[in-house]
Amino acid sequence: MRTTPMLLALATAVFAAACSGSSTDNLEGSSSNVGDPNDPNNPNNPNNPNDPNNPGTDPEPTALDDRQVDYNEALRTASLKLVRSLPTLEQIKRVHEAGDLAAQKAAYEAELDAMFEDPRFTARMIKWWRDVMRQGGGADGDQPSRETAPVFAARMVVEGRPYTDLFTATADTCPTYDEAANTFASGECNNNVPAHAGVLTNPGVQFQFYSNMAFRRVRWVQEIFTCAKFPAEQGGTPTKMGAGDYTNPWQFEAVTGGAEAFVNFQDTSSVVCANCHNTMNRIAPLFANFDMNGMWQDSFQVQTPASPDPVTSEFSHYLRDGEPLAWRFGKEVTNLTELGAQIAEDPIVHECAVARAWNFAMSKEDIVSEATTVPTKVLQPYLDDFKADFNFKQVLLSIFKSEDFVSF
Ligand code: HEC
Repeated sequence: MRTTPMLLALATAVFAAACSGSSTDNLEGSSSNVGDPNDPNNPNNPNNPNDPNNPGTDPEPTALDDRQVDYNEALRTASLKLVRSLPTLEQIKRVHEAGDLAAQKAAYEAELDAMFEDPRFTARMIKWWRDVMRQGGGADGDQPSRETAPVFAARMVVEGRPYTDLFTATADTCPTYDEAANTFASGECNNNVPAHAGVLTNPGVQFQFYSNMAFRRVRWVQEIFTCAKFPAEQGGTPTKMGAGDYTNPWQFEAVTGGAEAFVNFQDTSSVVCANCHNTMNRIAPLFANFDMNGMWQDSFQVQTPASPDPVTSEFSHYLRDGEPLAWRFGKEVTNLTELGAQIAEDPIVHECAVARAWNFAMSKEDIVSEATTVPTKVLQPYLDDFKADFNFKQVLLSIFKSEDFVSF
């Protein structure tokens, strides 16, 4: 029964609606009559909203307001997270005995800077990327190593390279790491792909996420780098169809369907397949030439689950003739290099990177499988910095230095 993973994906699809709304009171420009006891701006009015001692107008105190800044505790948790061991007595003393809070802050930040350069941080990043990417394990016979994508990503972090290299790097995309020497060794992926595109063309990834019609590879890109499950696009005018609404911005009939089709993506009887597949089917053909061992071949290597027997996939199984491939509506692509370029400039991908950095610092479980989403408002300052140079290491460092991290 080959449809189990899909059904699982459907059953666990979570539609997270972020509710945002804030009201900012503009207190400027209001005139006050100091003699008028009913004037809310009168400093002597017990209801004066400007009076910080007025309990009636203070913003509701929350649990966050009860937190105390504690650089020693911050050092302890940062050390466990970044280098996976407790701080030494010397480190503790340097922070503890630094003096007042400002001096402790400076001492804590100096320790952080050092930890980010520690070889154990490199090892930590490799492990973290293994978890994030669900990748790991050495080469075995024809099966490629599944370490090279996490090592590539960790190197990007440690060496302060742009995060977008994950999708756009054209060389040295299969490096290895020598733990004893704490050095990265350059390496090409050597899987015959016409042009490398960061981890998108990584043989270990293509091997591990091999599946019918290459959909699991598409799902991997979607969930790891946009932090959300399919459906990826909602832009269309909702149209009532069968069991639900069609909301994908692409024309419904563009996706393959009908009684003759091996897979009817226009089916609407239980779910509206095209909500997800009108996007997925425009990406999957780009990954279809990788075989089950992650090697690039001249033709499609994946199967369409036709009945009674599967057949080798063809373009016509995905889309109507002449339909463009695309990352998203209006973002058309013809190959993996162009796909990488589109992913690299997608704001959702940038936000996802920063959200993953935040969740790493705050010890949250996976953002997709555990739905540990972070409000954009929280991420915004880091996101603004990140967009300047895509330096993931800097963003991580500034989160560890943030008031949220050092307050308990
Ligand atoms: C909520 C989004 C969503 C909807 C709706 C959806 N799919 Fe999928 N589909 C996926 C994802 C994601 C995968 C890849 C799952 C995996 O392999 O991990 C997938 C995989 C598949 C596969 C390959 C399964 C295999 O054997 O590996 C087929 C075929 C498929 N879908 C057809 C359909 C059809 C037909 C419908 C409508 C009845 C449909 N899908 C509805 C998201 C969706």
